[in-house]
Amino acid sequence: ARQRKVLMAGNWKMNPASIKEAREMAALLASSLRTIAQDKPGFDVEVVVIPPSPFLHIVADVLSGTVAKIGAQDVHPESKGAFTGEVSTGMLMSMGVSYVLAGHSERRNLFNESDAVVNKKVKAVLASGLSPILCIGESKEEYESGLVKDVCSKQLREGLVGVSAEDLQEKLVIAYEPVWAIGTGLTATPAIAQSVHSYIRSVIKEMYSPEVANAVRIQYGGSVTPESVDELMTCPDIDGCLVGGASLVAEKFSRIFSYQ
Ligand code: G3P
Repeated sequence: ARQRKVLMAGNWKMNPASIKEAREMAALLASSLRTIAQDKPGFDVEVVVIPPSPFLHIVADVLSGTVAKIGAQDVHPESKGAFTGEVSTGMLMSMGVSYVLAGHSERRNLFNESDAVVNKKVKAVLASGLSPILCIGESKEEYESGLVKDVCSKQLREGLVGVSAEDLQEKLVIAYEPVWAIGTGLTATPAIAQSVHSYIRSVIKEMYSPEVANAVRIQYGGSVTPESVDELMTCPDIDGCLVGGASLVAEKFSRIFSYQ
């Protein structure tokens, strides 16, 4: 059986439209988490909600007292100063954030984030004591050209420059999100996902050690739904999911994190 604690995270991206809706979504999740806590005393899944920054505070507030943790979608690597529009790790910590996404494919593709920038963010998040979720994954063209391993290995190696074995073992999470599966309804088959996850673990083994490779958690992301989660979670190297669209519906996200 998997030794690593399962991590299910819901990335809300730039949704919902208002603080009122955010509060309602969080309240639905909170009540579902309370029901689970009552009905399933052995529930041992780490649940993380990742709302847009303006809603972090309210979502953290509504979910306090439940097991859910809060994540941020992005961060600026500097701690303060003249960076109009940006948010620092300290600000996130002061709002009760535990996890921070780094290198989501939308950040890489729509906002030109390079591996070097992603690496700066990863290091800043770790230095502040928070846990980064380093997102990697190939595009459709790369997938079709057989470049999955090359792309994942490069994003991993460059994203992890200067990251200690201890941080990787205890804090950092890797999320494999094939770009062709994000928001497309095309979930990677469990077999494809498992083979890439196992490859990622082999790269970590080579870069660090078998112990670190065995300890690091690797999430799968890309059109995860209540229908696809159970089979994905049977894969030995999939330690949880990073969910987009389906995490916006409390009922669906709850079904996902209470997978069978
Ligand atoms: O970060 C989660 C993500 O990119 C997957 O999105 O909508 O395909 O579940 P979605």
